[in-house]
Amino acid sequence: MGNFLAGRVVAVTGAGRGIGRAVALACAAEGAKVVVNDHGVSIDGSSPTSAVADRVVKEIEAAGGTAVAVADDIATMAGGARVVDVALAEYGRLDGVVCVAGILRERMLFNMSEDEWDPVLATHLKGTFTVFRAASAVMRAQRSGTLIGFTSGSHQGSVSQANYSAAKGGVISLVRSAALGLHKYGVTANAVAPVARTRMSANVPMELKEIGDPEDVAALVVYLLSERARAERITGQVYTIAGPKIAVWAQPRELRAAYGEGPWTPDRIADFLPGTVGTDPMPLLERLDAPPGGDTARADTASVSDLPRGAAPAATGPADTGRRPGARPPA
Ligand SMILES: NC(=O)c1ccc[n+]([C@@H]2O[C@H](COP(=O)([O-])OP(=O)(O)OC[C@H]3O[C@@H](n4cnc5c(N)ncnc54)[C@H](O)[C@@H]3O)[C@@H](O)[C@H]2O)c1
Repeated sequence: MGNFLAGRVVAVTGAGRGIGRAVALACAAEGAKVVVNDHGVSIDGSSPTSAVADRVVKEIEAAGGTAVAVADDIATMAGGARVVDVALAEYGRLDGVVCVAGILRERMLFNMSEDEWDPVLATHLKGTFTVFRAASAVMRAQRSGTLIGFTSGSHQGSVSQANYSAAKGGVISLVRSAALGLHKYGVTANAVAPVARTRMSANVPMELKEIGDPEDVAALVVYLLSERARAERITGQVYTIAGPKIAVWAQPRELRAAYGEGPWTPDRIADFLPGTVGTDPMPLLERLDAPPGGDTARADTASVSDLPRGAAPAATGPADTGRRPGARPPA
């Protein structure tokens, strides 16, 4: 057992399978007491069972660690609060929360139903809020703590998972808001956009070079939860980990600005905008238009689980997000 998280208490949602399970096991192996939350659902969020969380608690205990199971649905305020309450009741404190729980309901936007939109947003985005909300109140009072959200490369957009993409974009904004709002209380917040072999990524019918195992992702999470990361003042960041690759995503900022004179009209904007601020080419859109047979084996920062079936896989990393040939220079 290591000691990266000795004496710490960490709660992990979606900890019964895949990446969340690896995070829970790694936290326990590094000395943390762990709240293992998992609603035990199928990939689309149906058929819950408490057996999934219980199994991981047994694994941790068998390895000499300490853990407690919470099978609640973190898409509810009560479920998020219970994850935090159990940490306090069982272990007396809470140093980190890691919101990994996720589901998929894939559908083209023009066919997507409310029943496909709402549960995906509720699990990923609200399910991060419910736990962050309860945990941040505790961490604010104790003047320390770390919040970690799980996003995906598909926050850039997705052909057939608009619900998932919107939720994952929301997680990034929520994490950045938490980083800003809790900075003065010594609480950090970061997001992870993983690419790892799990039941989710197994759905993608393609060979991916840049994919790792859940244990790779768990190592990054343990680091982000540790004093080593806090000493580096890491907060408000989005990291991808995909096999051997670790990448940091750019902070959003205005790319180009131009100033006109007088009041704007649609006509004046039509004359002014194309030759000044222009556009910023969308990497995923360019890839859709690319001829077949290109770099189809790389997932890069786009999550494998987010790649639409039958669509060209993502091949653009953060280094590609700068200005492209043909983009207009600043005015
Ligand atoms: N695997 C990848 O390559 C990949 C890529 C990008 C993003 N992600 C994200 O990483 C996270 C983990 O993905 P994974 O591949 O390990 O998935 P997974 O399906 O293996 O595990 C997800 C777990 O979340 C649990 N869960 C779902 N809804 C829940 C709820 N309401 N309350 C509590 N638990 C719930 C499930 O029961 C399941 O055990 C997800 O947020 C996913 O979107 C994964």
